[in-house]
Amino acid sequence: MIAEPMKTAKWLNPAVADLRPYEPGRPIEEVARQYGLDPASVCKLASNENPLGTSPKARRRLLQVLDDTYRYPDGGAYYLRRKLAGLLDAAPEQLIFGNGSNEILEFVGHCFLGPGRSLVASAHAFVIYKLIGQMFGADVIEVPTRGLGHDLTAMRNAVRSDTAVVFVCNPNNPTGTLLREDEVRLFMDDLPDDVLVVFDEAYYELCLDQMPDTLRYVRAGRSCLVLRTFSKAYGLAGLRIGYGVGPTEIVAALEKPRQPFNTNRLAQEAAMAALDDEEFVRATRDVIRKGRDDLERACRAMGLEFERTYTNFMLIRVGDGAAVTERLTRRGVIVRPMAGYGLPEYIRVSFGRPDENEKLIQALRQVLGR
Ligand SMILES: Cc1ncc(COP(=O)(O)O)c(C=O)c1O
Repeated sequence: MIAEPMKTAKWLNPAVADLRPYEPGRPIEEVARQYGLDPASVCKLASNENPLGTSPKARRRLLQVLDDTYRYPDGGAYYLRRKLAGLLDAAPEQLIFGNGSNEILEFVGHCFLGPGRSLVASAHAFVIYKLIGQMFGADVIEVPTRGLGHDLTAMRNAVRSDTAVVFVCNPNNPTGTLLREDEVRLFMDDLPDDVLVVFDEAYYELCLDQMPDTLRYVRAGRSCLVLRTFSKAYGLAGLRIGYGVGPTEIVAALEKPRQPFNTNRLAQEAAMAALDDEEFVRATRDVIRKGRDDLERACRAMGLEFERTYTNFMLIRVGDGAAVTERLTRRGVIVRPMAGYGLPEYIRVSFGRPDENEKLIQALRQVLGR
């Protein structure tokens, strides 16, 4: 085939043309191929996945429903919706499901962002907020952090008359920092009610301390949306299912750009079973608490600065984050460089099983010569 200049380039939406796509953690198979490693020896500590794998209850349910995949799923996720509504003390109409909670972030863009509008987010928060702002042609107001955590006062003060959405990530990816009940209350008390607050709580169930109760703002009818996911605590990242909880009017708007079968049958069934697997979530929290203890101890011993984390990943200051990531990856330990988050001196590591954490610590010692 002859390569031709793309004749349609002139039609490319400028907001999309300038977009730098999100760079996810590298897959094990790709790294194994590149460095000639045995895939079984590579550990991926780069995407904040569940160190214990998939919820066993979800796995059992998946095997039971495999034969039903020839039918379209229930686009409204009737049973999952009712089950979750009961657990959260919400009305079924206050829930929306997404192909991962990421997809719901995109619905927020479709519904609320566009040229002439702005969004507010913390400077070192989940980078998708910024990408979505750019994709929809909105101004992205990045607010400097206090330490490495959200500065909610500064974020409130950054809100302009054209600000449609504020994103609050808690615990925050990639810094692992946690906002407390009082801080969130002060912020909400002071925020104009025509601004949509998106509380991104992807790590809610894996939080190692007290989470603020943000659903209270949904119940109070405030303009807010609480996002959670089955990817992390329940180990269903590969199935892509997450949800949002918000006042009925906001959820009804978000439903409009949703494709009819955005969450698949297997994901819905697995999610329902996973909700009964509290034991798995508890075991996961235990493993990540141990991971945090072990990594913190190792960092202190190596004289490395780190940020106290409240969930299943941690930021470590290593100097040249990109170079250290490359050298760890060669040794079969995949971590995440943080330049894309404005933190080029850091790497972000997800806590794995104890043997994986040990491999990371050994590799760090070799790479940094400590
Ligand atoms: C803060 C945050 N929000 C949202 C997501 C997206 O999760 P998912 O689309 O798998 O539900 C992630 C994934 O890493 C995340 O860290």
